[in-house]
Amino acid sequence: MKTTASACGKVILFGEHAVVYNSPAIAAPVISVHANVSIAESEKFILDARNYSREINLSKEHLEKSDSLFASQETIFSTLKHFKLGKRQKIRIIIDSEIPIEAGLGSGAAVAIAIIRAISVHFKKKISNNDLYDLAFKTEELHHGTPSGVDPTVIINEKPVFFKKDPKTLELLTLKNPIQLVIADTGVQSKTSEVVADVKKNNHDEEFAEIRILTEQARDLIESGEVLRLGPLMDDNHELLKTIGVSSPELDKLVDAAREAGAIGAKLSGAGRGGHIIALADENSKAIGNALMDAGAHRVFYTEIK
Ligand code: MEV
Repeated sequence: MKTTASACGKVILFGEHAVVYNSPAIAAPVISVHANVSIAESEKFILDARNYSREINLSKEHLEKSDSLFASQETIFSTLKHFKLGKRQKIRIIIDSEIPIEAGLGSGAAVAIAIIRAISVHFKKKISNNDLYDLAFKTEELHHGTPSGVDPTVIINEKPVFFKKDPKTLELLTLKNPIQLVIADTGVQSKTSEVVADVKKNNHDEEFAEIRILTEQARDLIESGEVLRLGPLMDDNHELLKTIGVSSPELDKLVDAAREAGAIGAKLSGAGRGGHIIALADENSKAIGNALMDAGAHRVFYTEIK
């Protein structure tokens, strides 16, 4: 018998990095890409992983070399332990993810959540969203060091969220009008843990206070349906992220190209230094996407947040 489960990707609309320091963030699911996990009976425990958007093929012999596969193995063992199942299960787990790794699209959290869901279904064990979050958060710590928890939160809920780390605040946002986003990947991989650790070296209280104001204004605009007014706030958020040192020439080039092609606003999204940008579109997504490919984007996704 084969069991399958999946989890979607995510983007941060406002507030990345600041959210690690207790400012709020707004994040949304990207349901056009998924991490898929299947489990089947096997002679012995086997773990295989494939990330086809980056043409990476991993299998057990690469385990020591791959942080992400190591994190997946930890997720499997802690989930089996949570369900009081022995570690030595004779199962073959295949991770097949469309979400680019180290691109700020939540690949680490999505793979962990898909693994936990697949084990839960395979062994017919129910799991609450709180326990799912706690298990996925442990994997996030392996990837990030000091994660805010926004990635597993938005991926589990599959809804746009207004999130704060402490005291933990989770508001599921109701959108009056959908948000059309073009997501462009620089193709440059970047480790969230390293970028978050670099940001920590300096005091950015002033920038984080400004990001907090932008994020709160954005929540009001999203809830009142004035989504096109988010553009200038995205531009301002990008400038503040640049000031704290997490942009890169590749990200800035894509942000500029998106604006020149008619995007209403654009910013880097996620940890930065590489990864992706998001551009706000108004019925001109395709033109923006084409311009981003011409400007050197590795790949482009289109998504409607609703
Ligand atoms: C990563 O998606 C967003 C960061 O704010 C880190 C975190 O919140 O854990 C950079």
